[in-house]
Amino acid sequence: MKNFKRHLITAALPYANGPVHIGHMAGVYLPSDIFVRFLRAQKKEVIFVCGSDEHGVPITIRAMKENVSPQQIVDKYHQIIKESMLGMGISFDIYSRTSNPVHHDTAAAFFKKLYDDGAFTEKISEQYFDEKANTFLADRYIIGTCPVCGNENAYGDQCEKCGSSLSPEQLINPRSALSDSIPVKRSTKHWYLQLQQYEDWLKTWILEDHKEWKPNVYGQCKSWLDNGLQSRAMTRDSNWGVKVPLPDAEGKVLYVWFDAPIGYISATKELTDQWKDYWQREDTRLIHFIGKDNIVFHCIIFPAMLKAHGSYIFPENVPANEFLNIEGQKVSTSRNWAVWVNEYLEDFPGCEDVLRYVLCANAPETKDNDFTWKDFQERNNGELVNIFGNFVNRTMVLMHKLCHGKVPVFHNDIMDEKDQQLIRDIHSTKTNVEYNIEHFKFREALFEVMDLARKANKYMQEKEPWMLAKKINEDPALQKSIDNCIHLCLQLTANLAIFINPFLPFTAKKLLHQLKIVERVLDWENAGSLKLLSVGYSLRPPELLFRKIEDEEIEKQILKLKQGQINMENQVNQPEEKNETQPLKPTIQFDDFSKIDLRIGVILEAEKVEKADKLLKLVIDLGSETRTIVSGIALHFTPEEIIGKQVVVVANLAPRKMRGIESNGMILMAEDVHGKLFFVGPDSSLPPGSKVS
Ligand code: 2FM
Ligand code: ZN
Repeated sequence: MKNFKRHLITAALPYANGPVHIGHMAGVYLPSDIFVRFLRAQKKEVIFVCGSDEHGVPITIRAMKENVSPQQIVDKYHQIIKESMLGMGISFDIYSRTSNPVHHDTAAAFFKKLYDDGAFTEKISEQYFDEKANTFLADRYIIGTCPVCGNENAYGDQCEKCGSSLSPEQLINPRSALSDSIPVKRSTKHWYLQLQQYEDWLKTWILEDHKEWKPNVYGQCKSWLDNGLQSRAMTRDSNWGVKVPLPDAEGKVLYVWFDAPIGYISATKELTDQWKDYWQREDTRLIHFIGKDNIVFHCIIFPAMLKAHGSYIFPENVPANEFLNIEGQKVSTSRNWAVWVNEYLEDFPGCEDVLRYVLCANAPETKDNDFTWKDFQERNNGELVNIFGNFVNRTMVLMHKLCHGKVPVFHNDIMDEKDQQLIRDIHSTKTNVEYNIEHFKFREALFEVMDLARKANKYMQEKEPWMLAKKINEDPALQKSIDNCIHLCLQLTANLAIFINPFLPFTAKKLLHQLKIVERVLDWENAGSLKLLSVGYSLRPPELLFRKIEDEEIEKQILKLKQGQINMENQVNQPEEKNETQPLKPTIQFDDFSKIDLRIGVILEAEKVEKADKLLKLVIDLGSETRTIVSGIALHFTPEEIIGKQVVVVANLAPRKMRGIESNGMILMAEDVHGKLFFVGPDSSLPPGSKVS
């Protein structure tokens, strides 16, 4: 890696049209915060910038629906989001907003420079206009009949029933989602960035020079680039946003995806006069933390803008996460299927680190993952309380009981293999945590820390200092063994404070208090030291780090989730603003496809898999044989309702063990945008074993 002098870490600017949910936290804000806290602990020069993304169609629509101004909407949610971030300990150096004048000036000047340099082409096109609402309509806000399947409520960019990608022109009988009136075509002028001009450069920069990017990011970029780039409008018709800084541009604003990433630059400007060092010097390491729906904007469009401008550096890495589902379903703001961070903070005061822990331990780093309240409870009670908290508490209690509340001396002469192993474990934890954080593998890094706490518990259990204390009258020399055990456990506790600090900063603070050590001790260079606490130093009485979470609290949350959804269903159906259709996976050859043996099967038996909420064990008739297949569909179907169903089976998939059961194949399912699953099968009955090709 290059030797960077400073780090500039950005986290995607959340839209200020609603509060943030735990999917945002797990995907973007928590990983970026862990990374930044780690850099700070290493005493690196770093700034961490974010802010509210306050422009774009969803905000104007929401304002229109609530009969307030867009400014009122963003003022409300900017505040709520800012407080949620603070509440969760996300340690931005600045949390700005794109309605600030400095941002308008910066974004407009950026656009003007590109315009003056001839980077745009002007194009006049016909677009749908809602005369009643007096506004041009974004594709998502035009509804009509799908030409493919006849669904009468297809959107102008996609039909959610058959999944077809559409353009508004393809809809039959289009109408406006805002006023229900029939939109008319009006011609309008916009400024297009010629993305194809940057294609060769992007190919070299990403596909050759950044092979180390996460596979999900690299793969998506490759797919966009392989499919070829086209020019894209960088302006929109609206009165809400950064005004296009040209004389003939009344009623035109910058496209929200043109202005939002410039928000990183304006936030840096607001924070420091040295902003140019961060944005324009090659020795800055710029890293964008984002969710997967933002990849094309951060890896292709924004870099093309920066390249066109010519004065800026490019990101070194763009570690995007996948999505976090909730209780088996995709998060949906329009259906209120979400766990809102502001509500969590109210419902679980003092449990900020519990959510940080669960979201990191279960982060969607390489694939979409699922959050369930049951898992939240189990991780808290089984891991934070029983392992981490229990070890620290036992150490502190025994130190008070067996060592007069002071750090006992360590007697080198009786050090044994178990002591030495524990010391080696502390050192290897340091190396492994470092490696994993540097490679954006936060789940594994956190696992290493927990594993050390696990090993420490085992060490204590094997040393049994409380048993030695019982025999001390007969053998006073045993005090030395007690001292060694407690001394090492205390030094390990102080190390745990350093290791856990990037992940659970509130817990690290509590540990500092109990151990009576100053914040400076948390510097990463101290990790691995066995001299963090001086012999004879008296420590505070123990306080529990984590509390147990009861069944009732969990049941209440599950009910709240379901109730919230029902309430929403009773309200007017509002289209969910989508960021971008996911591009197709890279092309495969016919030979690749023909390796897959697809067969028709019939489900003969189905039962739940014990201790696995999502899994069903299926017995499937494949004609010449019956197969056991474990399938992750238990949250969508009961065993009873699927018996007898015809399914398509991937019949030559290598066997895989799931929860101890060997699964021999896979059944195909289709999924709608809300994460609802549907069986795929023939439209009339076929004998089991029939080929599908
Ligand atoms: O997807 C989103 O929530 C966008 N508001 C992210 C913007 S990131 C950056 F470009 F500002
Ligand atoms: Zn359709």
